[in-house]
Amino acid sequence: MKNLKETILNNLKARPGEYIPGNELAGNLTPTRAAIWKQVQRLRREGYRISARPRLGYRLDGLPDRLDLLLPSKDRLWCLSTVDSTNAAARRLAEEGAPGGTVVIAEEQTRGRGRRNRSWSSDPGKGIWFSLLLRPENICPSLCAPLALVAAVSLARTLRVETGLPVKVKWPNDLLLKEKKVCGILTELKGEPDRVDYLILGAGLNVNHQVKDFPPSLREKAGSLYLAGGRFIARAELFLSLQRKLLEDCHTFFEQGFALFLPLWREYSSSLGHEVTVIRSNKIVEGKALDLDRSGALLLKDKEGKIHRMSYGEII
Ligand code: BTN
Repeated sequence: MKNLKETILNNLKARPGEYIPGNELAGNLTPTRAAIWKQVQRLRREGYRISARPRLGYRLDGLPDRLDLLLPSKDRLWCLSTVDSTNAAARRLAEEGAPGGTVVIAEEQTRGRGRRNRSWSSDPGKGIWFSLLLRPENICPSLCAPLALVAAVSLARTLRVETGLPVKVKWPNDLLLKEKKVCGILTELKGEPDRVDYLILGAGLNVNHQVKDFPPSLREKAGSLYLAGGRFIARAELFLSLQRKLLEDCHTFFEQGFALFLPLWREYSSSLGHEVTVIRSNKIVEGKALDLDRSGALLLKDKEGKIHRMSYGEII
């Protein structure tokens, strides 16, 4: 029966935790009991948790683990079921004049993008893919470079607090668990030499992935919170904590600079003091990672003892 499923679902959602008799669930429609049961079964297959009790009716106990259902879009939060890339969506919103603090999160990205023109695997149901739009005032683009490091520290700290897992950071802004990458960050900036129009900070976090959920080519290097901690994590709550703290930390960075975040970055670092390989503009530099300077550049000592100051690139 047309719309019966929607009607049942809307009525269940209107009175969560309460048993509702079948005839009330169907509203003005007058289906048979079997028809109602059939629609309830369909909803259960979609992940809705619905209890049924004789004479009492049906009760909604839980929604499917889908971010677009659990997090209704509101104010500056856009929750999409599917999108090409949350960074691209945030950029489109920015071009339409969306304010700083706007966030786009999607259950699925069809063209998720990574650094250095890589694609980012973003199937539905497992990860947290989101982008934050920022419009800092009184800061020029050249001073924004450490923002990606601030984001890495911010996300790592929240993940440590929320999950208890010993998340590490790899320069400039990968998050690791058990030496596998669990989160990547992609920052994009539009502006003029002396003025930032907007910044997009996109993060992709592998949450409930099992090994089989990654394409074979990624299985060596990619990890997830589930693989490191052995338990499934409620993504919606985790996302809300991550984005709240991230926005706060970004504002602190714009007001006070990177120095405040540097000690924490050092504490979480997986690579300081170790021999590393850095790729920069298709060139490889090898050496010992000594430290970061106040602008977030990596100081690397090569075999000849020469110190390289790497202001961009990434440890591979
Ligand atoms: C990296 O290469 O490590 C960066 C990956 C960044 C992926 C995230 S997922 C959300 C946002 N949207 C994108 O298209 N990319 C970023």
